[in-house]
Amino acid sequence: MIYFATGNPGTALSGATRPGDNLFSDSIVALDVRTGKYRWHFQEVHHDLWDYDAANPVILFDVELNGQQRKGLAQAGKTGWVYLLDRETGKPLIGIEERPAPQEPRQATAATQPYPVGEALVPQEIDINPGDHDLVNQGRIFTPYFEEPVFYKPMSAVNWPPSSYDPETGLMYICANDAINGARVDAEQVSEPTFQAMFYNGSWVPSGTRGRGIVAALDVRTNRLVWRRQWADGGNGTVVTAGGLLFTGLDDGRLVALDKSNGKQLWEFRTDAGVNSTISTFMHEGEQYVAVLAGGSMFGGPRGDGVWLFSLQGTLNQMPPPPSPFNPAQAAEVPADRVADLENGRTIYMQSCQTCHGANGQGSGHDGGAAALTPALSVQDIMAILGAGRNAMPAFSTMLSPEQMHDTGSFIVEDLVRQ
Ligand code: HEC
Repeated sequence: MIYFATGNPGTALSGATRPGDNLFSDSIVALDVRTGKYRWHFQEVHHDLWDYDAANPVILFDVELNGQQRKGLAQAGKTGWVYLLDRETGKPLIGIEERPAPQEPRQATAATQPYPVGEALVPQEIDINPGDHDLVNQGRIFTPYFEEPVFYKPMSAVNWPPSSYDPETGLMYICANDAINGARVDAEQVSEPTFQAMFYNGSWVPSGTRGRGIVAALDVRTNRLVWRRQWADGGNGTVVTAGGLLFTGLDDGRLVALDKSNGKQLWEFRTDAGVNSTISTFMHEGEQYVAVLAGGSMFGGPRGDGVWLFSLQGTLNQMPPPPSPFNPAQAAEVPADRVADLENGRTIYMQSCQTCHGANGQGSGHDGGAAALTPALSVQDIMAILGAGRNAMPAFSTMLSPEQMHDTGSFIVEDLVRQ
């Protein structure tokens, strides 16, 4: 058998052009590995409108449940629930109920949605209004929207960073996000997607609030939480060892080891970049090693390209903590006569900007996409926006130094959009 989880349907934010459940989106799917033949599927979200693609890799486990040995499968969803199935049949291991869902006919909403028995990893409704925004349905999960922005929780509760499972305790260790998302449809634009185009038919609406990163331990026999810990951001996936350690990486550059039984931090090591990739552990000539790539990502943290290797014999010192958060006014502090490195600016642009702004600065056509970059912009304008961010444009203050921002801004003005 081969088991995998699938992405969300498109167009992501508008459901009118795709009535029905939209199988097999947001699903766990089982195929016969020899023939590719369909065996079973389980859909986590019918007719998704909230970007709840099933991004976290599925985990297989064997566990004793009510005196019976069962073959289980778990997928931690962007909904904040863990979906626990019998991997032979695709049927819920503990229970998942179809419950009526709030309706919005203009979005062709599904009549019901699956609610797993047990506990969610993060809140699935908003306790306090974000800023001036009114709440619909208390921002509960599966609240539909149309032209007016609707805010909801969770936003991508469990994303791609892989989870781990401990056969000794039956616990699964998951990195989750607790954050508010907002979405709306651009009604006048609703149309079929075109080939290879990123096409939303709507836009994300930033809530203006911060999220938090959570590491949770969940018992697969009950689908209930055993412990949780939170950070400002991260962790980026977990690995659990037979020795009782749980490793996770944080965006601020730290690799941390927690006590798997309660989440208490036992050790940390500061690298030079966001620890955003999966941690590996292995034995070599009788010695256990832990390896991780610290590279940072577009979501935050300093950038780098170091592979870090640890063992009990390690001798390397930690890196110094990063400088205090960037002050946008610092952008102006680049000496007026500094000569920008345009090649460096081009490299940064291609790595960090073109996904949203396009290879030629033309902007991206889809909604929620980025503005076109025009010759009206000055280097100082660009540096100020890079330092502070603006609406859906992320701040790059923790990723780029004032000099790097100067290089990027100069490349845009002097090369990319020059007329
Ligand atoms: C995740 C998508 C995203 C990325 C990555 C991104 N931007 Fe943006 N950018 C936006 C959005 C969205 C806006 C429009 C913000 C607004 O005003 O609402 C924007 C606006 C801007 C503007 C202002 C344009 C104007 O005409 O006022 C500049 C300049 C800019 N971005 C530069 C950059 C640079 C340089 C980078 C790379 C270092 C970058 N952006 C990376 C999404 C992005």
